[in-house]
Amino acid sequence: MDRLPGFRDFYPEPLPNTDVWSADARNYIFNAWRSTARRYGFREYDGPPLEPLELFTTKSGDEIVGQLYNFVDKGERSISLRPEMTPTLARMVAAHERAYKKPIKWFAIPQLFRYERQQKGRLREHFQFNADIIGENDPAADAEIIALLIDSLRALKLTEDDFVIRLSSRQAWQQFFAQRCSDPAKSYDFYQIIDKLEREDPTVSRTKLDKLGFNYDDVTGFITASQPTPELQRVLDNLAARGLGGFVKIDYNVIRGLAYYTGVVFEAFDKKGEFRAIAGGGRYDNLVKLMSGGKVDLPALGFGMGDVVLLELLKARGLLPKFDAGVDVFCLIEDEALRADSLKLITELRSAGKVVEYSFTPLKPDKQFKRAMELNAANTARLERTADGAFQVKVKNLKTREERVLGLAEAVGAI
Ligand code: HAM
Repeated sequence: MDRLPGFRDFYPEPLPNTDVWSADARNYIFNAWRSTARRYGFREYDGPPLEPLELFTTKSGDEIVGQLYNFVDKGERSISLRPEMTPTLARMVAAHERAYKKPIKWFAIPQLFRYERQQKGRLREHFQFNADIIGENDPAADAEIIALLIDSLRALKLTEDDFVIRLSSRQAWQQFFAQRCSDPAKSYDFYQIIDKLEREDPTVSRTKLDKLGFNYDDVTGFITASQPTPELQRVLDNLAARGLGGFVKIDYNVIRGLAYYTGVVFEAFDKKGEFRAIAGGGRYDNLVKLMSGGKVDLPALGFGMGDVVLLELLKARGLLPKFDAGVDVFCLIEDEALRADSLKLITELRSAGKVVEYSFTPLKPDKQFKRAMELNAANTARLERTADGAFQVKVKNLKTREERVLGLAEAVGAI
């Protein structure tokens, strides 16, 4: 039986073939995300993977709505697997914001589902690191969230040579639009054209813009000038003060497909331009209000970073470490009369935090040793009885080949 298209199996390394994904690499990425978010003072939250369909239909924008994994459940409810985390976060915050001091700084690592055409970097399921700040208007918060994005990639050993954050502003585009067009109803179509500008044939974009009453050269001139708005300048200065200025550049090609963004928006890309976006985010100051039916009005901003492109990028740049079973000690049981006491030693070593392996059933000593080598164990430990009936443990470091004979209590501390 095959798995569904666009879904992944995660196996422990070494991987049996190139068609499966590494559970070890996934953990490695999750740990980097989690520890970086914690260093920035973010707290972890989660929500349900299934939500009422309407949570996404009005708030997310056409592209995501077209990709929903939705169905009617046995209780006749219209529901959907979550395609993104932001509406769930807005719902959760709106429900209980009073219980939390502002600004709220939260992160999550949900698995998300989008029924989209499977292609390089895009699957029907992915894990997405989400970090959001709620209840802060100042651009200092935009800079903080971008710094977190940069540092979570740096935690995976990616550098200024590997990726860049393209920084833009919906407000800048709104201003551009308002100065040239008095019909707000046209703004959605206009933003759609801008969003596709880089991918679309210029003559097609030119025709589309003409139809809306805009001039192609005027639009591309605005992008090329890349004049930061005062707000973007504050974000740039803040990041420069941290020594992170080299990771960002103003790029008005970025406008973001999602409907709810209101201010600063950004996307992270690999510098060689080989992959799709690593991450994307921005300000969405009206979403919490929308979600609470006007009851709670809090500014918000954040980003989402998927695991698919990131894993491909780390692999391509040779930045994934080697993963093995991580065994600290393989306990050799060569004398079955010592199995019970060996189990006691194994339990003590494990209580001390060591990863311990051993053979469940009687096995020839050379077979046990072979197994220890296969698992890439750091040490072997063999319980023995001395002539006077006391226990001792022979500990062998498999890298240096150095062997030590230790007392029982000593051995647990020494490994
Ligand atoms: P998004 O741009 O739709 O934003 O997704 C963010 C990132 O998730 C993308 O840059 C990409 O790395 C990854 N991603 C998205 N779709 C897929 C897919 N089908 N397969 C693999 N990876 C994918 C959002 O979702 C916003 N809710 C992020 C956000 C949080 N904005 C504010 N807070």
